[in-house]
Amino acid sequence: MIDTHCHIHDRQFDGDRDAVVARARAAGVRAMVTVGESVADSGRAVAAARDYGCFAAVGIHPHAAKDAPADIAAALRPLLAERRVVALGEAGLDYYYDRSPRDVQQRVLRAQLQLARDAGIPVIFHHRDAFEDFTAILREEWNASMRGVVHCFTGGPEQARTYCDEFGLLLGIGGVVTFPNAAPLRDAVQAAGIERIVLETDCPYLSPVPLRGKRNEPSFVTHTASKVSALLGMPLEGVIERTDANAGRLFGELNA
Ligand code: NI
Repeated sequence: MIDTHCHIHDRQFDGDRDAVVARARAAGVRAMVTVGESVADSGRAVAAARDYGCFAAVGIHPHAAKDAPADIAAALRPLLAERRVVALGEAGLDYYYDRSPRDVQQRVLRAQLQLARDAGIPVIFHHRDAFEDFTAILREEWNASMRGVVHCFTGGPEQARTYCDEFGLLLGIGGVVTFPNAAPLRDAVQAAGIERIVLETDCPYLSPVPLRGKRNEPSFVTHTASKVSALLGMPLEGVIERTDANAGRLFGELNA
């Protein structure tokens, strides 16, 4: 299994990161992508990837857009060149929390899309309550040679179709798919099918049922894999094999 979106460099793991990574390996998680949320946080992600034999993404989250450096490409390029960095992200729009002004979020997203296009690197998107503006920006900045994933996808079948069919994006499926009130998301997973999804935790946030409310960690991705297996009527081994292959097409082979 591959946890395509975690934050094991987060401070919440400072006390027991070794044990968390060991539990992930023991549970069959063979690769993890730890994702940065600002320039400084991305530096921490790169360091954790090196220290723990995993992989990193570097980028500026919409929450941090208001503090982004003036020259975003110049700040991110050295990080993108680091070994073990496999994607740019997380980048996107978050109109639910609105922690950065919306015009600033949009400018920072566009700058990162231009950088990803120039660098030929896949993008990990964070999107919440901004579907219209997000897809409008993609229509201007995205092209068919680019690869990406909508992390923590929580939309219904219609949004899934737009992302997958119009932009060729994958859907990052995490603990939310196990929540009782997530019926539209489960419909979307069934509509998208196994070829379009990758597994993730977004730990330390969003623990799956039956661990909801606890700090999340990469080993818990097994609960999400089981849920997807039940939803698609596919053996667990098949879900793991196919979602790993999807992650490989997205990021390149993740061999430690
Ligand atoms: Ni995240």
